[in-house]
Amino acid sequence: MQIFREKDYDAMSRRAAQVIAAEVVHNPACVLGLATGSTPVGTYKYLVDWYKAGMLSFKGIRSVNLDEYKGLTPDHDQSYRYFMQSNLFDHVDIVPENTRVPDGLAADPARECAEYDAYIRSLGYADLQLLGIGRNGHIGFNEPGDHFVQETHVVDLAESTIEANSRFFATRDDVPKQAFSMGIGAIMGAKRVLLVASGEDKADAVYNTVCGPIGPQCPGSILRLHPNVVLVADEAAFSRLTAAGVNP
Ligand code: F6R
Repeated sequence: MQIFREKDYDAMSRRAAQVIAAEVVHNPACVLGLATGSTPVGTYKYLVDWYKAGMLSFKGIRSVNLDEYKGLTPDHDQSYRYFMQSNLFDHVDIVPENTRVPDGLAADPARECAEYDAYIRSLGYADLQLLGIGRNGHIGFNEPGDHFVQETHVVDLAESTIEANSRFFATRDDVPKQAFSMGIGAIMGAKRVLLVASGEDKADAVYNTVCGPIGPQCPGSILRLHPNVVLVADEAAFSRLTAAGVNP
């Protein structure tokens, strides 16, 4: 695992954007696995800025997102499709048809999951998969449990995730209780993984990912079995590792 410990959120965002930009420049037809949530917002801002400065093009890029709330329309302002449009896709030259987010309204969820996996396989998996991490160690919406789920699936969100994400909704009751999530198989199938984390409330998840037992109780820990992972975290997210003497 290659580790970057950055001073603060902005430095973390810039470093993560550099890793993505390097991939896009090196392979202008690459497949990007993308994430939503508050952590990558700054990363996407840098990518949009660099696109506007003429340093990057997304014209040949195809993207697959990690997850989507079940039951939200694409134009719902808390849907992950909406997030991707407003934070990245609407501001760069990516071809709309080349972006894919699970369909939160799919009439046949099992079929949507199977088709999503078939699509990812048809692309040859992501060249670079961006991941945030939940406070409980989830990646995508692969919540802690007693086993890993390989395929794209419908997840019952953990209470702690509903609580954490309620900050984006008017009330806690408005937070969807289920989501579509890429499984561990597609995440581990990516050629390279970029994990980003910011803030003190991620310190335990980052510590358990890097140093804890490898297992489904902390889904992020499986990344230690992946041969090409880059972790970019700010000092606050890194604090438990720093206290344990890990000094990249
Ligand atoms: C988002 C996703 C989630 C988030 C995680 C952290 O697509 O898959 O795993 O990365 O919940 O979210 P934030 O960044 O909001 O703390």
